[in-house]
Amino acid sequence: MHSTSNETNIERDLTFHLARVVEDAAVACARTMGQGDRKHSDHAAVQAMRQAFETVPIAGNIVIGEGERDEAPMLYIGERVGAPPPAGGDFPRVDIAVDPLEGTNLCATGAANAIAVLAASEPGGLLHAPDCYMEKIIAGPACRGALDLDAPVSQNLKSIARRLDRDVTDLTVIVLDRPRHEKLIDDIRREGARIRLIGDGDLSAAIAVAVRGNGVHAVMGIGGAPEGVLAAAAMRCLHGEMVGRLVIDTPELEERAVRMGIKNPHRIYTAGDLAPGSHIAFVACGVTDGALLRGVRFFGEGHRTHTLLMTSANNSVRFIDTVHMNRKPGPRGVRLY
Ligand code: FBP
Repeated sequence: MHSTSNETNIERDLTFHLARVVEDAAVACARTMGQGDRKHSDHAAVQAMRQAFETVPIAGNIVIGEGERDEAPMLYIGERVGAPPPAGGDFPRVDIAVDPLEGTNLCATGAANAIAVLAASEPGGLLHAPDCYMEKIIAGPACRGALDLDAPVSQNLKSIARRLDRDVTDLTVIVLDRPRHEKLIDDIRREGARIRLIGDGDLSAAIAVAVRGNGVHAVMGIGGAPEGVLAAAAMRCLHGEMVGRLVIDTPELEERAVRMGIKNPHRIYTAGDLAPGSHIAFVACGVTDGALLRGVRFFGEGHRTHTLLMTSANNSVRFIDTVHMNRKPGPRGVRLY
């Protein structure tokens, strides 16, 4: 796809606006951390994210969101977001995938790795996936072309180990702790690889395995399809490897997938298929402390956020550590926490 001025705007003009959108969402839900009410936490994030979009100079179209219009009052699939266009002009059209709070339980219990996240691309650059499950294997850039969703677990582990120049017993695989993964967990254990079971948050897990030095090497198993598309956008920026297949197991879901333009619901997707855009931006802000991002910290006159900002086109991975001041600092100057 050729670059147009519309597309280049995503890297040049929009990424910092988008960072602010996830920061506002993260701050709002971080205030609810540990209160034990995941819906309330999610609502706070959604509301803040939506409000923050109101000043972003885009004609945004939510392609992955909180659900269909009738079940989600805000940030539903198909919702238009962005600032009102200038008189006689238009803002660039941008497709947007959001997860205002990835890890609602993690936030509600104060556990690690909750993030506020979104991906953006030129129109058509992110798959319009139904809100269903997705089978996934995700690993770092060294595993390019080495993952096979239909192969036995042992084969994938051997391929990943070979690409990472280590033994299978030196691998750590992240798996969502769910009854549906009983066999997967048995299979991984039988091969001798180590496992990190997580309660929630396979999107931050995906980001962690694509970055060297985190001590985790693959994500395997079934998680949300929206998180899968967002993970694919992150993999496009980090050059990570991913294969995924929607879990379409009812006629209703199949019908919905077809309506969303998915011709073969059993297709195996790569990151490039799920997030095919030429200009992908991915931003995530830590809500609770995690492997890559610190959570939001609050103090008297302000708060501090930690945000990951990356784009597929310019190979940069930025970490933005920001102290937001609500008022002028006291006589002893700016506080950091
Ligand atoms: P929420 O933020 O919507 O609570 O999702 C968290 C999550 O753990 C995702 O990371 C994961 O993809 C999905 O839920 C798994 O779904 P389920 O909890 O139904 O197994």
